[in-house]
Amino acid sequence: MRCRFNATWLLERLRNKRMVYVGDSLNRGQWVSMICLVESAIPPNLKWISYRHNHSLIAFNAMEYNTTIEFYWAPMLVESNSDHPYNHRLPERVVRVQAIEKHARVWSDADILIFNSYLWWLRPEIKVLWGSFGSPDGIHKMEQAPRVYEMALNTWSDWLEVHINRSKTQVFFVSMSPTHDRAEDWGGLDGHNCYQETEPITREGYSGSGSRPELMRAVEAVIGRLRARGLGVRILNITQLSEYRKDAHPSIYKRQWHPLSREQLADPTSYADCFHWCLPGVSDVWNELLYAYILRNRSPC
Ligand SMILES: *[C@@H]1O[C@H](CO)[C@@H](O)[C@H](O)[C@H]1NC(C)=O
Ligand SMILES: *[C@@H]1O[C@H](CO)[C@@H](O)[C@H](O)[C@H]1NC(C)=O
Ligand SMILES: *[C@@H]1O[C@H](CO)[C@@H](O)[C@H](O)[C@H]1NC(C)=O
Ligand SMILES: *[C@@H]1O[C@H](CO)[C@@H](O)[C@H](O)[C@H]1NC(C)=O
Ligand SMILES: *[C@@H]1O[C@H](CO)[C@@H](O)[C@H](O)[C@H]1NC(C)=O
Repeated sequence: MRCRFNATWLLERLRNKRMVYVGDSLNRGQWVSMICLVESAIPPNLKWISYRHNHSLIAFNAMEYNTTIEFYWAPMLVESNSDHPYNHRLPERVVRVQAIEKHARVWSDADILIFNSYLWWLRPEIKVLWGSFGSPDGIHKMEQAPRVYEMALNTWSDWLEVHINRSKTQVFFVSMSPTHDRAEDWGGLDGHNCYQETEPITREGYSGSGSRPELMRAVEAVIGRLRARGLGVRILNITQLSEYRKDAHPSIYKRQWHPLSREQLADPTSYADCFHWCLPGVSDVWNELLYAYILRNRSPC
């Protein structure tokens, strides 16, 4: 990159604007990374965090810039039974694949939108609800997950096509975030994962078995159709550069929501987190790419 990340330039560009990350915990990690990247450029009393929409929306406020950098929890983009920002660890996933309005009205006036949605679709089948949650008339049907993913992306893109002001809003979609749950993928021991990994993978073009290119092709197809209709959504392609970083996950060094059992403690591999990313770290690079797109042709160097 020609210029290094400069928080002041970015905040200047975001003056009087709203930037919203929408998606799952990977996207929330990227939002946290962005806050860490910019907050040192703002004096203490001029920045704060606020919550709205029952904590589904978290906003970092930068007062002197009249800027907010927000995160909105919608792990499957469309409505799902996992929309509660904290209580969403449910055995079965149910999506209302045609319903996005409830989420979309929260971020419809944003100036910059950064979406993601990938990990929550990694199961063979997902239950689709035709009708409303809690309504007795709802019809449930199990469908292949990739098919439901496509339907959800179509609902999302139809909404964007109708509602996004093309001369105001920049839209991004972050490509799939790779996981390092199977050490066999990179020639490690069977049954191991990212636990105790301290070096990146060096094989060029490496791609692990947790990555599903067919899901990303669905994203490319939907975004290609939007482009053809004059809405330029940019893919933030972070997949390949992150594939190498088996050493960059929190592993066992993360907050545990439940006390660990004796069995778990005896086998740290069993509770190592090989999905999310440490900060500072990989997600900062994702934001540097985002920065380059946001400031394109506008940066003074
Ligand atoms: C960042 O940008 C600000 C505002 O243009 C400038 O004053 C500052 O020197 C820049 N910082 C770096 C490290 O380039
Ligand atoms: C602050 O930003 C919002 C958009 O996020 C805009 O509507 C409002 O007019 C701005 N306020 C000032 C004082 O410029
Ligand atoms: C917050 O949750 C309550 C109770 O579930 C609901 O009635 C209300 O509409 C929610 N508010 C927002 C802004 O989502
Ligand atoms: C779209 O955004 C531009 C730039 O902010 C604004 O001038 C225009 O009025 C908006 N159009 C609509 C239909 O809201
Ligand atoms: C991301 O880049 C890789 C090559 O580095 C490419 O194979 C893949 O198709 C791209 N994905 C998207 C969603 O553009």
